[in-house]
Amino acid sequence: MPTTRQDGVSGDDQFRLDDQYRLEVPTNTGVDETEKAGQTAPKAEIGPTGRPYRAVPVPTPLERHGPATVIAVCNQKGGVGKTTSTINLGAALAEYGRRVLLVDLDPQGALSAGLGVPHHELDETVYNLLVPPHAATDDVLMRTRVDGLDLLPSNIDLSAAEIQLVTEVGREQALGRALHPVLDRYDVVLIDCQPSLGLLTVNALACSDTVLIPMECEYFSLRGLALLNDTIEKVHDRLNPRLDVGGILVTMFDARTLHSREVMARVVEVFGEKVYDTVVSRTVRFPETSVAGEPITSWAPKSAGAEAYRALAREVIARNVKQA
Ligand SMILES: Nc1ncnc2c1ncn2[C@@H]1O[C@H](COP(=O)(O)OP(=O)(O)OP(=O)(O)O)[C@@H](O)[C@H]1O
Ligand SMILES: [Mg+2]
Repeated sequence: MPTTRQDGVSGDDQFRLDDQYRLEVPTNTGVDETEKAGQTAPKAEIGPTGRPYRAVPVPTPLERHGPATVIAVCNQKGGVGKTTSTINLGAALAEYGRRVLLVDLDPQGALSAGLGVPHHELDETVYNLLVPPHAATDDVLMRTRVDGLDLLPSNIDLSAAEIQLVTEVGREQALGRALHPVLDRYDVVLIDCQPSLGLLTVNALACSDTVLIPMECEYFSLRGLALLNDTIEKVHDRLNPRLDVGGILVTMFDARTLHSREVMARVVEVFGEKVYDTVVSRTVRFPETSVAGEPITSWAPKSAGAEAYRALAREVIARNVKQA
């Protein structure tokens, strides 16, 4: 049965999606449609989501830090911008004076590499926090070149953790136990998940307050979200009652293509308020930053990409962080 606009995809049911997604050009496609119509509509107020931007306060400086809000950056689909978003949202939050800890929970170590850390050479990584004999979290913690931004790095060793954890008691809480001693020092912890819904990702969800779902603005990206939501619901019901979906971040948006605009419209139609007003456009600047090993906020501070992640940081502080 194809989904229809009336299919009850609002409120609590918004993630219960059929497998088929119908794309429609909405009446409020956004900036470009407004331009086409030659209207003097409030261009500055309508965002790429096709909705007016919601008011977001500028974050105020903090006098003290912690306890941290833990955010899992999660989507089992590969290459949707999880790592890019973790690095750049983290750096933007740090610019706003937040103390941020990034956790690399992907054996590929792309988060660590993206911050210029020679992760292959490290003796102690997140792996050593998860499996016995447990290392001390402080011994694995690293400063990054960005002020206020710390890292728990990973490398390929982590791929063994999933197998070794299976026989552990409380295997889903291993990451939570490792993070617990340092939560009071940080305002935000961002966990970069690997593209799977395996035990490592369940560990991330089990110790998180909220989930940030990056989603490539592409037709097939919608399909995996129902499965992801099932996993989030299971973890919520069985392991972590405080877990919720903090928001959906549309990445790699290209306002020039009808396809991007159609997918965006469908995402907003299905997920409503959960979609962040901030949308990250497709730009070659992001692959460049991976090579440079630093966030876009310092590599190209005035670029649209840097501004997008600053805007996302403001939204996340207002919407998702405990002590805004
Ligand atoms: N807004 C963007 N515009 C263009 N390229 C982007 C954008 N965001 C990310 N990329 C690039 O897309 C690729 C995948 O991004 P990223 O590694 O962040 O995704 P991921 O979801 O973490 O992937 P994986 O599932 O493999 O961990 C990278 O080469 C990255 O530089
Ligand atoms: Mg990644």
